[in-house]
Amino acid sequence: MKIHKLFALFLILRFGYIHAISTDAKHYIVYMGNHAHPSSESVIKDNHHMLASVIGSYEGAQDVIHHHYTKSFRGFSAMLTADQAQRLAEEESVVSVFQSKINKVQTTHSWKFLKVDSIQQYNHLPIKVKSDVIVGVIDSGIWPESKSFSDHGLGPVPKKFKGKCVPGEMFTLANCNRKIIGARYYFKGFEAQVGPLESFNGTFFRSARDSDGHGTHVASIVAGSLVPDVSLIEAAKGTARGGVPSARLAIYRACWFDICTDADMLSALDDAIHDGVDVLSTAVGPQPPQPSYFHDAVSIGAFHAFQKGILVSASVGNGFFAQTATNVAPWILTVAASTMDREFQSNIGLGNSKIIKGFGLNPSNLESASGLIAGSDAAAPGIPPRNASFCQINSLDPNLVKGKIVVCTVEKITDNATQLGVYTRNIGGVGMILVEPLAQDLVFQFGTQATLIGQDELEEIQKYIATERNPVAAIYQTKTVLATKPAPEIAAFSSKGPNIITPDIIKPDIAAPGVNILAAWSPVALFFSGLHPVDYDVISGSSLAAAHVAAVAAIIKTSHPSWSPAAIKSAMMTTATVLDNTGNCIRRHPDDTCATPFDYGSGHVNPVAAIQPGLIYDLDSNDVIDFLCSYGATAAQLKNLTSQIFRCKSPSRPSYDFNYPSIGVSNMNGSLSVQRTVTYYGKGSTQYISKIEQPSGVHVTVTPSVLKFTNAGDKMSFTANFTPSKASNGSFVFGALTWSNAIHTVRSPIAVNVLSL
Ligand SMILES: *[C@@H]1O[C@H](CO)[C@@H](O)[C@H](O)[C@H]1NC(C)=O
Ligand SMILES: *[C@@H]1O[C@H](CO)[C@@H](O)[C@H](O)[C@H]1NC(C)=O
Ligand SMILES: *[C@@H]1O[C@H](CO)[C@@H](O)[C@H](O)[C@H]1NC(C)=O
Ligand SMILES: *[C@@H]1O[C@H](CO)[C@@H](O)[C@H](O)[C@H]1NC(C)=O
Ligand SMILES: *[C@@H]1O[C@H](CO)[C@@H](O)[C@H](O)[C@H]1NC(C)=O
Ligand SMILES: *[C@@H]1O[C@H](CO)[C@@H](O)[C@H](O)[C@H]1NC(C)=O
Repeated sequence: MKIHKLFALFLILRFGYIHAISTDAKHYIVYMGNHAHPSSESVIKDNHHMLASVIGSYEGAQDVIHHHYTKSFRGFSAMLTADQAQRLAEEESVVSVFQSKINKVQTTHSWKFLKVDSIQQYNHLPIKVKSDVIVGVIDSGIWPESKSFSDHGLGPVPKKFKGKCVPGEMFTLANCNRKIIGARYYFKGFEAQVGPLESFNGTFFRSARDSDGHGTHVASIVAGSLVPDVSLIEAAKGTARGGVPSARLAIYRACWFDICTDADMLSALDDAIHDGVDVLSTAVGPQPPQPSYFHDAVSIGAFHAFQKGILVSASVGNGFFAQTATNVAPWILTVAASTMDREFQSNIGLGNSKIIKGFGLNPSNLESASGLIAGSDAAAPGIPPRNASFCQINSLDPNLVKGKIVVCTVEKITDNATQLGVYTRNIGGVGMILVEPLAQDLVFQFGTQATLIGQDELEEIQKYIATERNPVAAIYQTKTVLATKPAPEIAAFSSKGPNIITPDIIKPDIAAPGVNILAAWSPVALFFSGLHPVDYDVISGSSLAAAHVAAVAAIIKTSHPSWSPAAIKSAMMTTATVLDNTGNCIRRHPDDTCATPFDYGSGHVNPVAAIQPGLIYDLDSNDVIDFLCSYGATAAQLKNLTSQIFRCKSPSRPSYDFNYPSIGVSNMNGSLSVQRTVTYYGKGSTQYISKIEQPSGVHVTVTPSVLKFTNAGDKMSFTANFTPSKASNGSFVFGALTWSNAIHTVRSPIAVNVLSL
């Protein structure tokens, strides 16, 4: 598993130094679905018996098991040979057996941008009601001393909470308070698969205390208390706050050095569901491609959370390309990353008085002009100019770089940009201009004075260098520019659909801010802070978008405590906006074309509208089982997924009829009808009128085209009829269906792939 954090421009790939422990046995998860055991002890005993029957002895079974999943679902993780795993998979009560994967960890302004302060209905609720909502965060732990986690003004821990504050290294019971009401940690999976934590040579605490920074960041985005006068550098000053400053946090640490194993994630999910959280936020996902839903920890855990009424907000990933979307199960709210209307500009002044726009986060300025040299012109002896342009270690000649600003190009998105910055500084450079055409607005601290530019800006600089005998430049102090347009835009790195497991379900579901987010940080995590300790830091990634959406879910849950996870999800999706702050389509980076549902799902989250959506597309666990039948789940898999014995309908309901708030048909052969049912949440009688944005080459009508409601809770069904006139030849065409009355607009995107007429 992977935390969906972006290491600025590049995704961190630490796989280089993962020396997987090699024996014949591998770490497997044996998953058995729901259970009716009276206690954890009896599950553990049965797990041991079951494994003993395969490996021959009870003691042997006890030795190889690392985790028991006993609370919210049944299973265990153990070191097994392929043969033992196969034999367990054949057991009657087993749903799936799969290897525990390694997953990776893929503010001030964002809540203002999302206008959360103007939600009347929510803000007028008494603090006591608001502070009952509990958000679980599965990530790298928390830095409990951060001011963002002060519990000032909060009442006692809500009675429904069954979680614990588990002490560990540098983490005592006193580190929990009325804000951080629970803290647990899980490392057995990591150590079984990756090696002892100590072998990583990095700072860590064997406890929920965050040494990576990411978990602290996410937790403070969701539920940080109000902290005035926060800034990373003078540039981004403001009051730091979470989306729901009154909410409580339950912390589940399953990630170490940005790696989270399936086995540890499942333990965290097993506990979180049982502890009684209302909403779960996780920034962790598999490396694409997404595995099938029964072979993936987040998919399995989120399924049980959904059954228990808990919404799981998970990041789509930072995969850049089509079909890289992860966490795509229909019971998960899958979140893409967008930009806000704030830029951190670190512009460049050239000797010819031209100003070049650049982005950065520089604590000091470099306003007096220095010499300017391209990396390719500063190659060390024997290094070809092209190689030197990437400014990798030992590729540059220190004599040529000394006292100058060096222009470097990001070679691979996975390059370590801090390393480039530190290297150019160590050999005497005074600054770095880094060319990153894919993500030039993603600011980052490089350990040197630096700024990011795109291809057009590079050409401008090259032109200047070519015409000047002694080119000079200055990198100006970082300026925070607000109300920039257009915003939001979808980040280039945000993973894209279509959903490769069940393409009838459009993924991602929604977009939210995930670029240049300022939030609390762990002062021992130096990598993202220019190698200096900081209490607040700016980072980017779809994981931060998932945190924003988890907070909006908590706001909706507070106002509508009885709403199901599907209803909360529908409320957010059908009210999402597809227009930016210039009134045009939301665009995506870096090509600036209009985004499609495979970039942002239903659109950009709009918390103010989501709290009163008008109509809801609801779903329950039985609908999900129907969906799994159409997905082709085997009887053996379904058998133990729910406590009841379950038979699929024959023929199974098509998956495009799953009552999802968006409409996808991935393989249309001629005319076809799609069913949906909406539930009315409003006062008094009203009527909703349908409107269609027609996909190209497909004609869509809706019957009935007007829906009349009398009382809140009324349900009405309708049919969307599709008549294709042109095959779309393997690619999807997009449209939308909108229901509206005088007040509410309830929009569902449509994505259709017409195979034949
Ligand atoms: C799984 O389902 C079968 C019946 O289909 C039942 O006999 C068995 O006890 C179930 N296992 C668990 C763990 O619930
Ligand atoms: C940790 O340091 C030791 C000794 O210097 C080295 O052999 C090992 O490869 C390092 N481990 C990692 C993960 O960098
Ligand atoms: C330059 O880069 C090329 C391709 O990236 C590589 O094959 C070659 O070894 C490099 N040359 C040197 C001298 O580093
Ligand atoms: C990146 O480079 C910096 C500076 O050299 C170093 O401290 C850090 O550990 C590197 N990160 C990775 C992931 O290699
Ligand atoms: C359309 O035809 C393809 C190929 O024959 C088939 O795989 C697919 O299931 C059909 N679609 C529907 C909705 O029946
Ligand atoms: C359909 O797609 C194939 C392969 O992508 C392409 O070769 C062909 O020209 C396309 N046909 C039309 C009519 O666009």
